[in-house]
Formats: sequence, structure tokens, C-alpha cells
Amino acid sequence: MKVIQQLTTLSNLVCSVCGKSYSIFQPQTFAYCCQQPLLAVYELPGHFSKSALRNRAATMWRYAEVLPVFEEENIVSLGEGMTPILQPARLSEKYELPSLFIKDESKNPTGSFKARGLSAAVSKAKEFGAGTCIVPTAGNAGGAMAAYCAAAGIRAIVVMPRHTPQVFKDECELYGAELILVDGLISDCAKKVAQIKQSIDCFDISTMKEPYRLEGKKTMGYEIAEQFNWTLPDVILYPTGGGTGLIGMWKAFREMQQMGWIGEKLPRMIAVQAANCQPVVQTWTGRQPHSKNYVGQPSLANGLAVPNPFAEPMILEVLKASHGKAVAVEDADMIDAVKEIAREEGLLIAPEGAALWKALLQLLETGSIKRDEKVLLLNTGSGYKYLENI
Ligand SMILES: Cc1ncc(COP(=O)(O)O)c(C=O)c1O
Ligand SMILES: [Zn+2]
Repeated sequence: MKVIQQLTTLSNLVCSVCGKSYSIFQPQTFAYCCQQPLLAVYELPGHFSKSALRNRAATMWRYAEVLPVFEEENIVSLGEGMTPILQPARLSEKYELPSLFIKDESKNPTGSFKARGLSAAVSKAKEFGAGTCIVPTAGNAGGAMAAYCAAAGIRAIVVMPRHTPQVFKDECELYGAELILVDGLISDCAKKVAQIKQSIDCFDISTMKEPYRLEGKKTMGYEIAEQFNWTLPDVILYPTGGGTGLIGMWKAFREMQQMGWIGEKLPRMIAVQAANCQPVVQTWTGRQPHSKNYVGQPSLANGLAVPNPFAEPMILEVLKASHGKAVAVEDADMIDAVKEIAREEGLLIAPEGAALWKALLQLLETGSIKRDEKVLLLNTGSGYKYLENI
């Protein structure tokens, strides 16, 4: 089946701080001018209309005009995206939350939302003719990269903390990736990646240090708008590690505003972190100027154990612009939430996603969220991968 009629309207890459332009015709990492991420820019108005979506396949590639791939044959897809938005009926009733929703990203290939970013980035790696892809990962991104590289016939090197649960390691090896284990957190894995890159020519897919993963992740924002019939929720809670999902959804909302697809009002964005590793919360609440020197501890929610997120300034910008907040949740509370949601709703969600439930209860108590508001929790992954620690 032909999925897409017209491909990208990508026009440019720009530094997210000063706007300096970078070429879209060669592989890029981040903006050297300001040491911050690059952003993909598209020719938006007049090139993409909502009605074009009507007959398209239910994958994230239905938004191809605002995705970065030039040639359809380079798209590496395992059916990612168009995940369901569910109404957790029993929890809604029990906690008197009439407009509570969960977008269930565990339905993606490899069981997490990482599939979106890696589908986009590995497609670009294929388009640029890369022979090897490399990624430092807290777990889920490594599995996703391994799977998409397998599908693309590209060599994959995954660098992961040694303490990550076995299943995350096993899936990488099953998908044929080379797995390198490092003592420490993802920040230590990033140092190892930098070392390896000195001797091997690799397409580096590190979080926000490569412009196209963000583009895949942003499709969550497009889907949320489309699935809610172009009226966004009042509040979105999102488990924030490197921040790709949060920044990506916000980018999608801004693009849709430019195209006239949605109105002025945007959701308040809430970044939820693990108490064990909460750099953004610490900066947001003024306890440190930035997270460059923050020291974090491992968390059951390994995706949230990101002590020094490269794109922290952009994460903070989204929280500020959306009148949002950053809050932390203890590991023990995440386990509690995983169990409650499984028992009440039949959904076995990742601890990262479960953290949102406890964060929501906190924010209801302090009055930051009202019970009748339309609230969306982004469950980013499957709980099945975490069972050995739950
Ligand atoms: C399940 C899960 N949720 C959330 C995150 C954090 O993602 P982001 O980098 O988009 O903040 C990760 C990252 O590893 C993850 O695996
Ligand atoms: Zn710059």
C-alpha cells in the first residue's frame, strides 16, 4: 500500500538559540555556534492540510510533510504511531476525574515511544547512507535503535548502563546490535560514545544531539490533536528524561498553529521526573542555576535517570511558555502506581508512565490541576520490560 502521496517540506535546520542555519543535505549533530540542539524547519502554510490525512495509514508517517525524509524508499517503519488514547474508567470514577485520558505508547514497536524517534532518525541515517548507528541509552532507545537498524540493514552499537534490567540488553542483542555496558548513568554512556566515535565512523543518535529523533517524537503532538478532534487537553503530564517528547510535542503544537490546524490555547506541560534523578525539578524550583553539575542516582524508571539533559534550556522554555511545572515522584510511589493501574485498568504500564499518576494526585492536592480539567497522561512504555524490578 502506498502510504504517502507527498513527502517532506523540510527547508532548513536552525540553531535553537540564535537561528543560524545548518545544511539539511549532510548529517548533522547539534548547533556548534551555541552548543544547543538544532531544529528542523518546514515550509508549513499552504503545503499540508488536515484533509490530506483522511486516507492515510495509521502510522506516524501519515504526517510525512512535517517529517524529515526526502525519499519514501528511505522510510524505515515498523508500524509506529497512532497509539490509542484510552479513558481509564475505573480510576476516573474512583478519583472523580471525568476527563482523564492515557495515551498508550506501549503499543509501539519495541514497547515504547522511542520507536517514533528512532524510526525518523534511522530513516535519515539510511537516507545519508550511514553504515553504523550509535546511541547512548537508558534502555528503551537502545532497543528501538537496534530494531530499526535491523530493519534498515545498518550496523548498530548500543551503549547502556550496566545496571539496566536484562530484558533491555537481551532485546538489543536479539536485534543484532553490538551492546557495550558502562558503569554509571546515561551521561557516562555518552562519554563512551564520544570515545568510540573517534575510531569508528558512526551516525550518532544521542538524545537532542541529532535533529531528527525530535521530529519522530513530535508526532505524538500531531496525534493528540488529531485524536482529540483538534482541541488539545488542558494539561499534559509527560515523564521527562532527555526531554525529547516534551519539546517535540510543543514543537508540533506550534507547527499546527502556524498551519491554522489548532487554536491559540495550548496545554500546560508538566515534566515529571524521578526523585532519584530530578535535575529539571531542581533547576525549575531555583535550587540550582542549571543541571550541568547535577549528580543523579539510578531509578526504577531508567528512562528518567538522565542527570544532565543536554536540552535543559529548551525543556525549561516549554514549561515556562506553557505555564507548566516540574515535579518529582519517588520510586516506591511509581511501583505503587504501576500496580494500581494494572489492577484497576488492565494496563501494565512503565514506571515512567506510572509516575504521572502520582504526580497528578500531588498536583490535584495542591490545586495546580482542577478535577474537571481535561488531563492527558503520556504513558511512554510497557511495564513488561520492568517486571524483574517491580
Ligand atoms: C519509558 C520512558 N519514558 C520516558 C523517557 C524519557 O524520555 P525523553 O528523553 O523524551 O524525556 C524514556 C527515556 O529513556 C523512557 O524510556
Ligand atoms: Zn547558535
